[in-house]
Amino acid sequence: MARLNGKTAVITGGASGIGRAAAKRFIDEGAFVFIYGRRQDALDAAVSELGPNARAVRGSVSDEADLDRLYAAVKAERGTLDIIFANAGAGSQLALGKITAEHIDETFDTNVKGTIFTVQKALPLMGKGGSIILTGSSAGTTGAPGMTAYSASKAAVRNLARTWAEDLKGTGIRVNVLSPGATATELAKEALGEEGQKVFAAMTPLQRMADPSEIGAVAAFLASDDSGFMTASEVAVDGGLAQL
Ligand SMILES: NC(=O)c1ccc[n+]([C@@H]2O[C@H](COP(=O)([O-])OP(=O)(O)OC[C@H]3O[C@@H](n4cnc5c(N)ncnc54)[C@H](OP(=O)(O)O)[C@@H]3O)[C@@H](O)[C@H]2O)c1
Repeated sequence: MARLNGKTAVITGGASGIGRAAAKRFIDEGAFVFIYGRRQDALDAAVSELGPNARAVRGSVSDEADLDRLYAAVKAERGTLDIIFANAGAGSQLALGKITAEHIDETFDTNVKGTIFTVQKALPLMGKGGSIILTGSSAGTTGAPGMTAYSASKAAVRNLARTWAEDLKGTGIRVNVLSPGATATELAKEALGEEGQKVFAAMTPLQRMADPSEIGAVAAFLASDDSGFMTASEVAVDGGLAQL
């Protein structure tokens, strides 16, 4: 398939996990992809695997000057931008009663403030036909123990697509949320351990965790004109986890 032929994409958190799987899929479908993240070694390894249609820019979504450098690099090499996959995110468990201000700030800085500036700073390069994809989570809908800050941040991300679909009326730019359920990325496997992975698989109607490539496939659909009449939507790719 070449649904993304000639298109330019930015994927934050594109050096690992879901972002890296999406980068591979976007490139397989014809796109030129800039991946963005903080670890140079992970960026270098991903670019060497992704090949000549990938570039890496190092930086944090929480740092506006870093994001300015990202979009300056996109402008210099490609001129315009068609797809932004605002996927960088992080979170950890902290039980109610133990939550600290630092924990909340750190989570919201990445997942909410980071997503807002990733998109806001991309807009001058985007135009009609553009697609914005935000990574939400099944945790934004369900209740999960100890996930106050992460789940609230992902619920906020879900609203961003609704608000921005209003703000972007008349521009021809679409914005949707892709909400994965438990996905077997390196990070999730390490955080959950063998036992935790079995628990999540058992909780999921499809009785397994997702492979990152299954999330990347839906990201490619949302990036492409095949989803041309979709905006403000949340697409759950969660094996049914948050749907029952
Ligand atoms: N795996 C799951 O089960 C699951 C389920 C639902 C939702 N999600 C969401 O999916 C997205 C990707 O997660 P993943 O599972 O693929 O884990 P991952 O491999 O750890 O991916 C997270 C990526 O985000 C980047 N990142 C984190 N903080 C950043 C920052 N401040 N600035 C720039 N980049 C940053 C990381 O790179 P650096 O550390 O190098 O910066 C990393 O590449 C996240 O938004 C996560 O919340 C995951």
